[in-house]
Amino acid sequence: MSHPLEQLREEALREIADAPDAQSLEALRVRCLGRNGSVSAWGEKMKTLSAAERPVIGKLLNEVRNAVTAAIEERADKFRAQKESDALADIDISLPGTQAERGSLHPLTQMLDRAIQIFRRMGFALADGPDIETEWHCFDALNTPPEHPARNEQDTFFLPDGRLLRTHTSTVQIRAMQGAPPPIRVIAPGAAYRRDEVDATHSAQFHQIEGLYVDENVSVADLKGALEFFFYELFGTDTAVRFRPHYFPFTEPSFEIDVRSKALKGGEQWIEVAGSGMVHPAVFEEVDLARGDDAYAPEKWTGFAFGLGMDRLAMILFDIPDIRLFAQNDLRFLGQFA
Ligand code: PHE
Repeated sequence: MSHPLEQLREEALREIADAPDAQSLEALRVRCLGRNGSVSAWGEKMKTLSAAERPVIGKLLNEVRNAVTAAIEERADKFRAQKESDALADIDISLPGTQAERGSLHPLTQMLDRAIQIFRRMGFALADGPDIETEWHCFDALNTPPEHPARNEQDTFFLPDGRLLRTHTSTVQIRAMQGAPPPIRVIAPGAAYRRDEVDATHSAQFHQIEGLYVDENVSVADLKGALEFFFYELFGTDTAVRFRPHYFPFTEPSFEIDVRSKALKGGEQWIEVAGSGMVHPAVFEEVDLARGDDAYAPEKWTGFAFGLGMDRLAMILFDIPDIRLFAQNDLRFLGQFA
């Protein structure tokens, strides 16, 4: 006949092994090892034993307590592990992950970055001016007479206060010269606005890169050299560049610039991409009048200016058929330039 303590151990171990879940195991732990638990009760009982019995039973009690404690911990660990793997069972780790969508720069921005990089290497700094301009910056200072058609309200967006949305970035030529004496060498990318009929190649808002270089002895050869270099860098050295005589009020002589390249869409066709010319002395005089000095004395300084059609360049570079695509924010289009 075994000692009641040994029977208690057998019974406890069996119940522990049979405990169906963590809660019933915890209840069992309290029932055995808690302050009023069956095992703890034996601690009290010890006091009633004889001096001879006490060490023997004491040792047995310790063994029983340790065995029950270890069995409960082991079973509790099993339940914990089970719980974790149950939670993971809902996750299929063999499924592909959720990919974050990657953005990309707008094709006009990419085109602009390339242009800026090329002009930087030629020593041009960045300049800018506001889209909402005074009539003086847009026309008068640029030697554009009051009767010029660009001043017609059919051609330009006027604000009630007489200001307007700039029709070209040439306004920044004036602002740059007002702000600093020569020599000056800047480019000014930005939006321009005209009341054009919107179609595949015309938009009420478009983008230009203005250029201005004023120094001593700047000539048409410098203008040609700078812009030819620009187009070779942008479109490749098999590009042909043509300077065609033209008229702008603020340059004299003036040229429109066409490019042609087998590598480009349109192949053999000349495509007009810029206006340019030598800064008109009347522009220097008007700037000096506004500055109140003779920093831009036309006898001393000469300069060239140009205005590149950025949308047009990007359309050629990326083979884009319609200018309206730039502003429609269609990810199927924009995603092609990632
Ligand atoms: N501002 C002119 C245009 O928009 C282009 C140009 C710029 C011409 C600079 C000459 C010099 O058509």
